[in-house]
Amino acid sequence: MLEVEGLHLRYGHKEALRGVSLKVAEGEIVTLIGSNGAGKTTTLKAISGLLRPHRGEIRFCGRRIDRDPPHAIIAAGLVQVPEGRLLFPAMTVREHLDLGAVRAPPGAPAPAKRLDDVLSLFPILGERSAQKAGTLSGGQQQMLAIGRALMAAPRFLMLDEPTLGLAPVMIDQLADAISRLHKGGMTILLVEQRVDLALHLAHRGYVLQTGEIAFENEARLLLDDPRIKTAYLGA
Ligand SMILES: Nc1ncnc2c1ncn2[C@@H]1O[C@H](COP(=O)(O)OP(=O)(O)O)[C@@H](O)[C@H]1O
Ligand SMILES: [Mg+2]
Repeated sequence: MLEVEGLHLRYGHKEALRGVSLKVAEGEIVTLIGSNGAGKTTTLKAISGLLRPHRGEIRFCGRRIDRDPPHAIIAAGLVQVPEGRLLFPAMTVREHLDLGAVRAPPGAPAPAKRLDDVLSLFPILGERSAQKAGTLSGGQQQMLAIGRALMAAPRFLMLDEPTLGLAPVMIDQLADAISRLHKGGMTILLVEQRVDLALHLAHRGYVLQTGEIAFENEARLLLDDPRIKTAYLGA
């Protein structure tokens, strides 16, 4: 469904990606693992069209998208939940969800149906509908960021560090929501600092080191891989 091939990307003179290739098949959850600064966010932003790679190709559902503007990529069904959530503190929960609905592709379920689906995934967003985003807890803000993305009716969701800074109970709730989304048919590319959690949710994982894919494998094999254990699982 998503094919990334030989992606190179620079910030000025600094090379952030040096030939990143990865694939995500329809229905999969794939995780991209790596230390701070490895290039995970840069990879997601390049896929979303927010950053332009200077070399390489990105295909979504068989079509090249690496020259498309971000709105066209969202309209094709590929939506990113950004790192840090990027909400508007003074806008209400409902206003965020309505904003997300603006970009849905033709043929998507009606906005009211999508809203129902989001509220059944995250009932708290219904209860807090009129509350300003800035007054939500960190976990609720992350749910809102995911809810807003889902209002665009994606077929493919990219999540950048959804559990960053959250309390354990919230992390469990989010993991459960990701897993329910997947069971509902969503294809997911997940960037997650909590590597154990990511590898329990995902089918496969890619390990990114200083802008390059160092290795990849099935998630259950990566959980037992000594390179993962020492570098990311603190074993
Ligand atoms: N806007 C930017 N300008 C310059 N360098 C950047 C910018 N964003 C990220 N970088 C650099 O690119 C590299 C990859 O960053 P990033 O993709 O954010 O990593 P990760 O998400 O894996 O932590 C890092 O060395 C980071 O310092
Ligand atoms: Mg990042």
